[in-house]
Amino acid sequence: MNVKKTFGAALVIAAFLPLASHAQETDPATGFVIDEGWQIVNANCTACHSAKLVTQNSGSRHRWEYLIRWMQKTQGLWQFQPEMENTILDYLAKHYGPKEDARRPPLARELMPDNPYKQTSDTSG
Ligand code: HEC
Repeated sequence: MNVKKTFGAALVIAAFLPLASHAQETDPATGFVIDEGWQIVNANCTACHSAKLVTQNSGSRHRWEYLIRWMQKTQGLWQFQPEMENTILDYLAKHYGPKEDARRPPLARELMPDNPYKQTSDTSG
């Protein structure tokens, strides 16, 4: 047995282990992060649209609740038992929470170009 080679391989594996344990495991079929509640979300949130619509969205727990209410009111989404809804909201808020720096802040007014469509209230000439 080549001790040197084996030791080298063990080192390489050891170097990657900490990364692997932090990486979030996702379900290959849907892309959902695998964590408590994901199967409930998978079972209830992919009947009408792709899981991508869920995983590409993000928002606070409040926003997710608002979206669920909206789908219940207008899109035929069924009602959930409170406990199940909690599990769903916990999961969504934890893994698809608000993206804080998804958008840059707006430019200051003086950094903006002149608005070419500006209307003057002066119509006299
Ligand atoms: C009964 C059908 C149905 C189920 C079940 C359903 N949805 Fe939806 N959902 C819709 C429809 C219809 C739309 C609108 C799709 C469109 O705009 O093309 C939508 C849109 C969305 C959107 C996009 C909203 C936006 O702002 O554009 C998100 C996010 C979403 N659903 C999440 C979920 C989650 C999370 C669940 C599970 C709790 C779920 N959906 C279950 C019908 C459903």
